[in-house]
Amino acid sequence: MEIIISPDQKQSNITAARLIARQIKENPQSVLGMATGSSPIGMYQELIRMHKEEELDFSQVTTFNLDEYVGLPKTHDQSYYYFMQEKLFNHINIAPANVHIPDGMAADMPAYCAEYEAKIKQAGGIDIQVLGIGSDGHIGFNEPTSSLASRTRIKTLTKQTLEDNSRFFDGDESLVPRHCITMGIGTIMEARMNLLLAFGEGKAKAIADTIEGPITSMVPASILQHHEQAKVFIDEDAASNLKLKDYYKWVYSGKPGWQKDA
Ligand code: F6R
Repeated sequence: MEIIISPDQKQSNITAARLIARQIKENPQSVLGMATGSSPIGMYQELIRMHKEEELDFSQVTTFNLDEYVGLPKTHDQSYYYFMQEKLFNHINIAPANVHIPDGMAADMPAYCAEYEAKIKQAGGIDIQVLGIGSDGHIGFNEPTSSLASRTRIKTLTKQTLEDNSRFFDGDESLVPRHCITMGIGTIMEARMNLLLAFGEGKAKAIADTIEGPITSMVPASILQHHEQAKVFIDEDAASNLKLKDYYKWVYSGKPGWQKDA
């Protein structure tokens, strides 16, 4: 795992966005895995800026989102479909046909989930998967004790996640859908690179458990220790529980220029 600690969220967003931009420039037909929630918003804003000011071209890029609430139509302002249009897709030149977001209203969920997996394979797999992390260590909506080999499927959210996400539903936990479709941990692990963003003290424990704890399904993100290309972009607050924080900073500051992401 590569740990990139920035003094603030803005710097993390810029560095992470540069990494994605480099991928797109190297291969205009890149396949990106997208996340929702508050963590990637700043990075998406930076990608939008690069599109508008530096002609970063998304016209041949394909995307697959991690997850979606079950039972929310696309038009619901808290659906992840709606989120992605608002926060990114409406502002860049991506082809709508290349965008894939799980359909929380699909009639036959098991068949739909299998089809989603097949589409990722047909597209050639994911080059860079963007991830946030839940305060309970979830990635996608793979909650603690999710199988580390799981594929796209329906999951039930934990009470903790319902509480965390109630901030998007007028603070009313009962309005947060209990079920979601999510890529599995096995699916996420097949991405050629995973790029995790986490900010603020609320993520400090989950980040420390992920990076320095044992690999366990109790902290789903800890499986990223097994990934060859997992990069973790965090601010000082999210890094505050890391035992080897100074070491990670020292490693990054000593990286040769040609190896740096940004
Ligand atoms: C969202 C997703 C979730 C979030 C996580 C953190 O697509 O997959 O794992 O990344 O719940 O959410 P925020 O960023 O809102 O703290």
